[in-house]
Amino acid sequence: MKGSKCLSIPYLIVFLASLHISFSVVSIEAWSSSHRNNYHHQKHENGRSWHHGPTPVAPSPPSYDSNTFNALIKAWEAACEVEGGTVEIPAGYTFFIRPLTLQGPCMPGLLLKIDGTIVAPPEISSWSESELLEWINIKWVQNFTIQGNGLIDGRGSEWWDFSKALRFYSSLDVTVRDIRIVNSPQCHLKFDSSARVKVLNVSLYSPEDSPNTDGIHLQETTDVEISHSTIACGDDCISIQTGCSNVHVHHITCGPGHGISLGGLGRNGSFACVSDIVVENIRMHATQFGVRIKTWQGGKGSVKNVSFSSIRVSNVKVPLDINQYYCENHNNCENLTGTVAISNIEFSRIWGTYSGQPILFTCSDEVPCVNVNLVDVQLKPTMSHNRGGRIHQALCQNSYGKTESPLMPSSIHHCLRGMSGVAEVGVQNPHEELCQYQLGRSSSVDLTSSVP
Ligand SMILES: *[C@@H]1O[C@H](CO)[C@@H](O)[C@H](O)[C@H]1NC(C)=O
Ligand SMILES: *[C@@H]1O[C@H](CO)[C@@H](O)[C@H](O)[C@H]1NC(C)=O
Ligand SMILES: *[C@@H]1O[C@H](CO)[C@@H](O)[C@H](O)[C@H]1NC(C)=O
Ligand SMILES: *[C@@H]1O[C@H](CO)[C@@H](O)[C@H](O)[C@H]1NC(C)=O
Ligand SMILES: *[C@@H]1O[C@H](CO)[C@@H](O)[C@H](O)[C@H]1NC(C)=O
Repeated sequence: MKGSKCLSIPYLIVFLASLHISFSVVSIEAWSSSHRNNYHHQKHENGRSWHHGPTPVAPSPPSYDSNTFNALIKAWEAACEVEGGTVEIPAGYTFFIRPLTLQGPCMPGLLLKIDGTIVAPPEISSWSESELLEWINIKWVQNFTIQGNGLIDGRGSEWWDFSKALRFYSSLDVTVRDIRIVNSPQCHLKFDSSARVKVLNVSLYSPEDSPNTDGIHLQETTDVEISHSTIACGDDCISIQTGCSNVHVHHITCGPGHGISLGGLGRNGSFACVSDIVVENIRMHATQFGVRIKTWQGGKGSVKNVSFSSIRVSNVKVPLDINQYYCENHNNCENLTGTVAISNIEFSRIWGTYSGQPILFTCSDEVPCVNVNLVDVQLKPTMSHNRGGRIHQALCQNSYGKTESPLMPSSIHHCLRGMSGVAEVGVQNPHEELCQYQLGRSSSVDLTSSVP
C-alpha cells in the first residue's frame, strides 16, 4: 500500500536529451493498477505538459545519455514495487537506449507497455564489452507482460554479430504480445532458463541476409506457447534448443529465414534433451528449410515426441529435414561416435511447393532415427527454379517409421524403412534418466540463480 500511495501521482520524467537546439523528450510513467481509472486524465495532463515545451523534433544525433537510462530504471523500480504496476513507453515518442538490465523479483502483474519506439545505439563503439551480449535483458521476473503497439528497433546491421535484442533469463509466467521487433542483432527474442512463457501476435523482422538472426530462441525453457506471429529473419524463425519441453508453436508465418528448428543439439559432445514439441498451422515462404531437427556428431541425449502438422510451404528449399551430421557453415567437422537420439517424430499434413528436395533425413549409422512417421505429405516442385538448384528425390537415411497416403512425390513412398527393421540395428540408450533430470531441472525455474 505504501508503494501504491507514492505512485498515485503518475511518475513523469521529462527532460532535454541534448543541450543542442534539437532535443527529445522521454516520458516514463509508472502507476498502480488501482489508479488505472485515472489513465485518460493522466494522459491528457502529460499531453499538456508536453505541449508547454518547445515543438518536438527528431533528435539528431540521438543521445544515449545516462538520464534516459536512469529514467527507465527508476520507472521500472517504482512499478516493480506495486502489484499490477506499469512502465509505459508512450505512443509518439522515440526512446533511445543503450544496453539495459531490468530485473526482478517484482510484485505480480508488472506490465511494460511499449506503445512508442525504442531504438538501439547506432554503433557498437557506444557499448562496453560486457554489454554486447544482449540489448534489453530482463531477469528474475514472474507474472510479467510486455505489450503494446510499439516498435523495438535494434538497428542491427552494425552489431549483428554481438547481441540479442530482448532476452529473458530465469523468469516465470511471462507474456510478450503485440509488439514489433525489427533489425535485431543475433536473436530478436530469447528465453533462457524460464518457464510458462507466452508469445503472441508479435512481428519480428530482419533482412534475409542478416547473419545468425534467429527470430525466437528458446533454451532450457519449458511450457511455452508461441502463436499468431509473423517472423522474417536471416536464420531460424524459431529455434528450440536443449532443455526445452512442452512447447506449442502454432499459427506462425515464417519467411524468409531457415525455418523452424530443433537444435543444433549436442555440439562438442554436449548433452541435449528436447521433448514434447508441437508445431502446427504454420505457413512458410521462401525459407531454406521448413521444419527440421539438427544434431552434431558426438552429442548425447535425445529428441522425442515431436509433432509437425498442418505445415504449408511455398518455394521452400527442403521442407522436411533431419540432420544428424549437422556441421555449421559446412566446416569440415570431425567424424565422432554417438549422437543425440531422435525418436517419435510425426510429420503430417505437409503441403505445398519445394525448390530443392521434398525430404532429407540423414540419420546416423550408429543411432538411427526411429518412429519417424510421414502422414499426408503432398509436395510439388516449384515452377520457377529461381534458386538455380536441381530438384532431388526424397532421401531418408537410417530412418525407420511408417508412411501413410496421400504422399507426393512418389519417392516418399519408400523413403523410410519399416519399424520391423529396427530390431536388427538396435537402438542405443539415449540417456533417458539424464534427460528426465535435465528437463525436470529446467521446469523448476530458480528466480534468483545467477546469469551464466
Ligand atoms: C498475475 O498477477 C495478477 C495480478 O496480481 C493476478 O491476477 C494473476 O492471477 C497472476 N497470474 C499468474 C499466472 O500468476
Ligand atoms: C496485434 O497487435 C497489433 C499491434 O501490433 C494490434 O493492433 C492488434 O490489435 C493485435 N491483435 C490482437 C488480436 O490482439
Ligand atoms: C567447441 O570446441 C571447440 C574446440 O574444442 C571450440 O573452439 C568451440 O568454441 C566449442 N564450441 C562450443 C559451442 O562450445
Ligand atoms: C507428447 O507431447 C504432447 C505435447 O506436449 C503431450 O501432450 C503428450 O503427452 C506427449 N506424449 C508422450 C507419449 O509423452
Ligand atoms: C567422415 O565419414 C564419412 C563417411 O563415413 C567420410 O566421407 C568423411 O570424409 C569423413 N570425414 C572426415 C572429416 O573424416
